[in-house]
Amino acid sequence: MVKQIMNMDNNIITVTSPLLPDLEEFHALLKDIWDRKWITNNGTFHKELEKALAEYLKVPYVSLFTNGTLPLITALQALRISGEVITTPYSFVATTHALWWNGIKPVFVDIEADSGCMDPNKIEAAITPKTTAIMPVHVYGRPCNISAIQQIADKYGLKVIYDAAHAFGVEQNGKSVLNAGDMSTLSFHATKVFNTVEGGAMIMHDAQTKQRVDYLKNFGFAGETEVVAPGINSKMDEIRSAYGLLNLRQVDTAIEARHQVAIRYREVLKDVEGITYWNDIPGVRHNYSYFPIFVDAKEYGMTRDELYFKMKEQNVWGRRYFYPLISTFSTYRGLDSAKPENLPVATKMADEVICLPMHHALTEEDIERIINCIIR
Ligand SMILES: Cc1ncc(COP(=O)(O)O)c(C=O)c1O
Repeated sequence: MVKQIMNMDNNIITVTSPLLPDLEEFHALLKDIWDRKWITNNGTFHKELEKALAEYLKVPYVSLFTNGTLPLITALQALRISGEVITTPYSFVATTHALWWNGIKPVFVDIEADSGCMDPNKIEAAITPKTTAIMPVHVYGRPCNISAIQQIADKYGLKVIYDAAHAFGVEQNGKSVLNAGDMSTLSFHATKVFNTVEGGAMIMHDAQTKQRVDYLKNFGFAGETEVVAPGINSKMDEIRSAYGLLNLRQVDTAIEARHQVAIRYREVLKDVEGITYWNDIPGVRHNYSYFPIFVDAKEYGMTRDELYFKMKEQNVWGRRYFYPLISTFSTYRGLDSAKPENLPVATKMADEVICLPMHHALTEEDIERIINCIIR
């Protein structure tokens, strides 16, 4: 019986699979940590990973965190954001929760149909005297319209914090999208292109801000006896920093493997009526973190949910990212900006999307199984 269940589990194709470091190499680094007996609080591997990530990501400063939610919360603290912040409902719920944890009112604006990112044309109408910042998301790693958002921010004197949880390594015209705005945050959760099991980071432009953020993620300690702010504990430890150093060495290979999966999906899906997907954007280095498809029920002859459950029956686990919209959750649905009439594009996308399995270890056989669930 147990064996049967195990076999069934082995047959499941999950939406993602974590990139794992080589166990022997990891063991060697663990030995270093054991020898040093310095296991957290800005240790050797923590410093090395911050430096290596800044180089890899082409950004000036990186501050490591224990997950991708706390840098969002801390960025708002570091920039002293209050009042109202304009954001997107089409994201993982942590984006809006970060505002809630800071006592900030989220104001949802709709998204663009061709990127899933915040629609810059909708921002100005949502600005009030209480607005202090904009928090867009490079959803699925597709870059937001950075220049249009910055123009509005400059015009109204607003800060911009990008939730770049999905945008590890994404570049536009040779420049990292992580340099946009006042700050960007990353998630290194197990489901992400680059993971440290749990983990995250904040990207900032100057050393002074990095210093302040480093205080904030360590209870506000600015020295042995001085506390300069009501900081939190969100430091990354040595073990996960070591894991991250090893994963960084193989992340390019993993991204290329994902790219090949995307190519194969597109080859086949272009001929399936009622299923649409996005192509790569010229000048963008994509990270292929997700592969969303959109189901037009009339043309396809089946609703998104019908396809989703049909796939599930065949042990192909897509995910309906990002359904339901954040604006529909009980904490937020009472807000004026949460009304579906205000968010028609996001509402439609949330109702039509399935993210297909996408990771570095998908085999040709897996891909054929996934495709066969969709071809009619
Ligand atoms: C867009 C977005 N923001 C924030 C987060 C939160 O990251 P974490 O799960 O590392 O706290 C996630 C993660 O899953 C995410 O997808």
